[in-house]
Amino acid sequence: MSNHLVKLFVELDTALADSQAFWNIQAFEYQHLPKQWPKPLRDWLSQQGESDLDCLESKTQNQKVRHLESLVGGLNFPRVEFPKIANAEIDLPFWITNGIKGRKLDQLQQFCCAIPRTELPRLEWCAGKGHLGRIAYHINPQPTQSLEWDDQLCLEGAQLAKQHNMDIQFQNCDVLNSEVQLTCSQQHVLALHACGDLHTHLLKQACATQTQVLSISPCCYHRIQASDYRPLSQLAAKSQLRLSRKSLKLAVQQSVTSGKRTQRLRDVELLWRLSADELQRKYSLEKNYRPLASFPKQWLSQEQGFKKFIQWAAAHYRIELPSDINFSELEMTVKLRRINLRRIELIQHIFQRELETWLILDRAIYLTEHNYDVVVQHFCDFEISPRNFLINAKHISYKQGPKHEF
Ligand SMILES: C[S@@+](CC[C@H](N)C(=O)[O-])C[C@H]1O[C@@H](n2cnc3c(N)ncnc32)[C@H](O)[C@@H]1O
Repeated sequence: MSNHLVKLFVELDTALADSQAFWNIQAFEYQHLPKQWPKPLRDWLSQQGESDLDCLESKTQNQKVRHLESLVGGLNFPRVEFPKIANAEIDLPFWITNGIKGRKLDQLQQFCCAIPRTELPRLEWCAGKGHLGRIAYHINPQPTQSLEWDDQLCLEGAQLAKQHNMDIQFQNCDVLNSEVQLTCSQQHVLALHACGDLHTHLLKQACATQTQVLSISPCCYHRIQASDYRPLSQLAAKSQLRLSRKSLKLAVQQSVTSGKRTQRLRDVELLWRLSADELQRKYSLEKNYRPLASFPKQWLSQEQGFKKFIQWAAAHYRIELPSDINFSELEMTVKLRRINLRRIELIQHIFQRELETWLILDRAIYLTEHNYDVVVQHFCDFEISPRNFLINAKHISYKQGPKHEF
């Protein structure tokens, strides 16, 4: 597997580096379509209206890639496919699934079916209420320690484990605190959807202690302390890609959820932020984009909300706004910018999955560099969770028990 991962990484790295102009940019900062993009692409994009964009966004990744390739020659997209683990059906009793909602339950169930059954004690990293630990325990009972920093979640998780007579102990701790260390190598560590630093910290500690088995599904790669991405593997450290936190966010921008109200409020916020940007470019000496902090979200649904927001933004940018701003002109400009933003993001998003795969391979290769046998798979369908990569890793020193499956 390791040679295959390295080959894939090198291909992907070259393709992503060659195509950076299309994705490693901050779409929101552009007032027009990026001038560095080929003219045929810009001409075609300018003709796409809102409904065309709706339709294009719903196309499959392969269709989008083919379309982009037809408009921009010379792009080289490695086709990266990882095996999808066959949806496993396990009959879970109602008492164990109580209180876990639809898609989350599917994720937990499929994650638990996709991890190796070992005879090792388990460690659940950033456990929440420990749903994962309990389901894994039900399938393959092993003493479990669950780490979580939220008091209430620890309390509820411990109660549920006790109620179901499971040997699961919660430890209320900050996993990033240097005093919380993996000291025992004889463990199977589970981490489902641990964000940025939380899972990279785990990987580093696990390699240092030679933790025997790891099953990790990473999430939110941009939630890191550092301003730029620090590759984990020696191979990725040689890459010419420089990823800021904003670029890392691109890897997780797909959302399958969010209700109509949330979507509407998000759209209103976008229009307001674009308005503020237009005003600051017009009335300050600064002609470039300047970031704006977060503001009270209740303004979004208040009648005078926009007015409050604009005054707040002007104070933030230290600009004085004239009393005769032409708001209908501003509205037209902003609507045009929003559609251009959608056009830019249409292209940018084609590279999302490649970028996430690059990040996953960095993690997987880091483990192989530390003497792990690694398997990368998708543990559930994209529609159940877009964060569906699973890394199963077994240290070469691990002596499998008779009931072990990997
Ligand atoms: C996205 S949730 C995942 C929960 C669980 N693994 C699951 O998939 O159902 C991340 C969890 O990590 C916890 N967490 C975040 N930062 C932490 C830290 N520094 N130390 C311990 N737990 C942390 C949060 O409270 C939250 O419960």
